[in-house]
Amino acid sequence: MKVRKLAYSLGAEVTDLDLREPQSDAIINEIREAWLEHLVLCFPRQDLSPDELVAFTARFGKLDDDRAGSLWNLPDHPKVNIIANKPVEIGAKTIVPVIADKWHTDLSFALRPSSATWLNAKQLPPIGGDTMFASMYAAYDALSPSMQGFIGGLEGMHDVSMSPDWGRYTPEIQARRRGTHPPVVHPVVRTHPESGRKGIFAGGFLRKLIGFTEQESRPIIDLLNTHATDYPFVYRHKWSKDDLLMWDNRCTMHNAVQDYDRTQLRLLHRATLLAEKSGRYYEAENASSAPASMS
Ligand code: OGA
Ligand code: MN
Repeated sequence: MKVRKLAYSLGAEVTDLDLREPQSDAIINEIREAWLEHLVLCFPRQDLSPDELVAFTARFGKLDDDRAGSLWNLPDHPKVNIIANKPVEIGAKTIVPVIADKWHTDLSFALRPSSATWLNAKQLPPIGGDTMFASMYAAYDALSPSMQGFIGGLEGMHDVSMSPDWGRYTPEIQARRRGTHPPVVHPVVRTHPESGRKGIFAGGFLRKLIGFTEQESRPIIDLLNTHATDYPFVYRHKWSKDDLLMWDNRCTMHNAVQDYDRTQLRLLHRATLLAEKSGRYYEAENASSAPASMS
């Protein structure tokens, strides 16, 4: 396989592979190494069936099958989600749209966030519909030692109801999502278990900082998310049909840019690898850190 860098802080293209074929352990290891080094990999011209996507991605570890009852999986493939900007009917199931137009890291609202996500582009609008990725290593490294010290001591509460798609869910779906994903706490700076490098772990699901009120938290969170997604840390992917992207959620954030004709269908197949369990469930804090009473 050939690896070619696509941007300064992250992103590489991997060619000379046909991922419909079974891959040797040596190739899987090479891909894993390239993924750890470049954070986002694009494998062009990989038109994978759902079975081929699962066969390839399961080589890297445990795939999410969302036992809680996924709104997005293909009816006969619990590990393959449909990411589409419009409702898609498959048999008796209507797949709920995913827009994802806010910087985030996948499943940060869970005790077992995602390590890798794969997206395979099946149908694209004629122009636009890019996805942006930012390196949380580069963003962390660029902070002053004072700021690194400050945020190194912080923990944050991640809440599924901060999803960019939340307002488009029905009350039934909102209740179901809240029930299966109570808020969780993760450190704001995390050490990547494989690279040993530190990265910012913030993003759109981060609702408040532990020990701070929501009002106090907001400007700090906004500062972090704005800094973390500054141009030098970003790779912007322009999709071609059959691109397979693989990224590391433990050290990146991503955002689906809404720069396309939304009447056109944009549809990708997704597989999600689960990281080790980390963090804890959020417990209500004492009155001094609750929002001030208005009375
Ligand atoms: C996702 C996601 C971005 C996109 O599937 O987790 O954020 O560009 N998708 O569709
Ligand atoms: Mn996402």
